[in-house]
Amino acid sequence: MPSANQEVPKRALRVLSGTKPTGENLHLGNYFGALRQFVDLQEEHDTALYFIADYHSMTTVRSGVQRRHNTHAVALDYLAAGLDPERAILFRQSDLPEVTELTWILTSITSMGMLERAHAYKAAMEKGEDVEHGLFTYPVLMAADILLYGSHLVPVGRDQKQHIEMARDMAQRFNRIYETDALVLPEPYILDDTATVLGTDGRKMSKSYGNTISMFAASGAVKKAVMGIQTDSTPVEEPKDTSQAVFELWSLFATDAERDEMFDRARAGGLGYGDVKKDLLARLMDYFEPMRARRRELEEKPDEVESILRRGASRARELATPVLESCRSAAGLGPPKR
Ligand code: TRP
Repeated sequence: MPSANQEVPKRALRVLSGTKPTGENLHLGNYFGALRQFVDLQEEHDTALYFIADYHSMTTVRSGVQRRHNTHAVALDYLAAGLDPERAILFRQSDLPEVTELTWILTSITSMGMLERAHAYKAAMEKGEDVEHGLFTYPVLMAADILLYGSHLVPVGRDQKQHIEMARDMAQRFNRIYETDALVLPEPYILDDTATVLGTDGRKMSKSYGNTISMFAASGAVKKAVMGIQTDSTPVEEPKDTSQAVFELWSLFATDAERDEMFDRARAGGLGYGDVKKDLLARLMDYFEPMRARRRELEEKPDEVESILRRGASRARELATPVLESCRSAAGLGPPKR
């Protein structure tokens, strides 16, 4: 079955992505790997929806106070990093409880077998964890997130690709079973791999490795992380291996010409890692200062942030209502149409 996308001009393709409010500090990997690209996509597409997946966080975050706090923090991060509420629709997942209705509708056409093949569920089972139904059903709620708003493109990291494919499968099944085209078949938009940021230990930057550099942390903490980037023990006067994290990280904040010059100097010998780190720190702070300032400003205005989220929810609802109505109608739910 061809996807609806093929007939739609690029600008009109609807973009949607979600972030779980798990309470992690936004780091360079999140920013260059995803957030910066979300900001670009809001320019390139007429409709870009970004939501805070607070329902999804329920499988891990067990405190309501914590969830609210984390949810607000994600909104601050996103707004500070350049999501423009005039362009993108920023909203909180649970402000549209409609998504749980679509979840139910989808659960009834989704095979257990498919859900049993989900990576996250399989991993939890293999560890012998006492898996909750919410974790098992996670991909269905995620499919509902995507399908409720008629999303065409879902920008996500590679680890989420399977979820998008499952959403596509559910949309196709629903449309076939109920002989409708109520649901758009979404496609994953795998975020640029070249944007993979190395952490302070040279592995991919990730919270789980404890090798992150946070962009909104106190300046002392940022400094500590940068100065702690691991390097080999080549003496100052000798040529350096430029594939090391310190050079890759530094390059994020340099032009191509600057990068070439730096790499030449590194390969020539005589360059100390300490100096590279100091320069990296200066460039990094310079780069993020406008965002840090904007975040500080927003921290003082929780009501403004809240009203952005509410307005986002009402715009999201305008998109969701007709989709859900078509699903209900196709499935024979609710009062008959006259
Ligand atoms: N599962 C995603 C993650 O952990 C978050 C998410 C929830 C999401 N719903 C979504 C991402 C819908 C894209 C679209 O990163």
